[in-house]
Amino acid sequence: MNLLIHPATELYGTVTIPGDKSISHRAAMFAALAEGRSHVRNFLPGGDCRATLGVLRGLGVPIEEVSPTELVIEGVGLHGLQEPAGVLDCVNSGTTMRLMAGLLAGQPFFSVLTGSSQLVKRPMGRVVEPLRRMGAQIWGRQGGKLAPLAIQGSPLHHLDYALPVASAQVKSALLLAGLYSNGLVVVREPGPARDHTERMLAAMGAPVQVLGSVVTSERPRRPLAPLDMAVPGDISSAAFLLAAGLLAPRSRVTIVGVGVNPTRTGILDILQAMGAQVQAQNLRQEGGEPVADLVVEHTELHATEICGDLVVRAIDELPVVAVLATQARGRTVVRDAAELRVKETDRIATVAQELRKLGAQIEEFPDGFAVEGPVQLRSAAVWSHGDHRLAMALAVAGLVASGPVLVEEAECVSDSFPGFEQSLQVLGVELGLEE
Ligand code: S3P
Repeated sequence: MNLLIHPATELYGTVTIPGDKSISHRAAMFAALAEGRSHVRNFLPGGDCRATLGVLRGLGVPIEEVSPTELVIEGVGLHGLQEPAGVLDCVNSGTTMRLMAGLLAGQPFFSVLTGSSQLVKRPMGRVVEPLRRMGAQIWGRQGGKLAPLAIQGSPLHHLDYALPVASAQVKSALLLAGLYSNGLVVVREPGPARDHTERMLAAMGAPVQVLGSVVTSERPRRPLAPLDMAVPGDISSAAFLLAAGLLAPRSRVTIVGVGVNPTRTGILDILQAMGAQVQAQNLRQEGGEPVADLVVEHTELHATEICGDLVVRAIDELPVVAVLATQARGRTVVRDAAELRVKETDRIATVAQELRKLGAQIEEFPDGFAVEGPVQLRSAAVWSHGDHRLAMALAVAGLVASGPVLVEEAECVSDSFPGFEQSLQVLGVELGLEE
């Protein structure tokens, strides 16, 4: 599917956005381990989270889809997962594969995790190596660096591990393995990676503790309590609509029910540093997570520098930050973001390659990029490379180009933001879809 985006002059309205991808994955996985029936509302029915549901079903977890966004999950308990008859397909989802690797390492059975051609190129050594230190038996291509991963569950023991990169996926995999370990698992974080696992497992009664940048988990003495929660809206999806509202002249956009966990709000800090005012209204709690309504208006932006912990707190938003930077006065510089190179695509290379087709001035570094602005973007055809966040960032760029922008292979937006096109239309964007 190709998405044709027309330039916009005035975006106005109120939208809700789908549930948070990271929280949806965790809600489904952890509910499966609980004793009793969990209710999860506003579950993200995107490709990545649906992959998690498929894997859990393969492990014998009964999941009823009351609607695409409402799940009833019959928890099988910490020791109730069953050996899968076939391979477990994580499709495009790195979160599914890495978290499940941690969970499966301590199960008394054999399992195989695989995924799309995109996923089997992404680094898995970062979870395999520390899990092996705990005693896990995991095999993969290139000595365990790449999927498919074959896991023979085995007894796990104590681990004290300093993460080489700030990664919530690796942290979460180790914390999950810790639930099946004979000793304490201690994870030391170099930066503030998202903490949804810690919050949710602790709320379910698991012995997961956070002391500054050190997180521990161990074998629970009692069953995990089931969940009854609504997943907050995904701030990583909201980022595209915030960017749209900031860039299109005479705009005012309200996004209702957005998760504003401080480990995720780097984008709000970046927008503020670029001169934008994002108002957070109706601050409340949902499912143990802070939630707010976000309001933005069109703003003339200026450049900023992004590095260090801020990168960790905004890692998935950096493609759309690059688009914002094309319209901001000055040179916006992103550093310390080498992790972008191992996302769904090498997002430093693909963002630079595609934004240049629109006339952007962007320089690549090994660990980031610099963008000169403002420039008038031009009408062109661009390619998503099968990367949902790149597709949506390019669509936002189309709102301020001199003519229509065609985003090729845009069906991947539904990996994280099903309904993205409709949300843009509600705000007044003129767009076309071609098969
Ligand atoms: C995620 C963590 C981040 C993020 C990804 C989702 C998660 O990846 O980029 O989209 O749900 O834990 P890393 O943990 O690899 O940094």
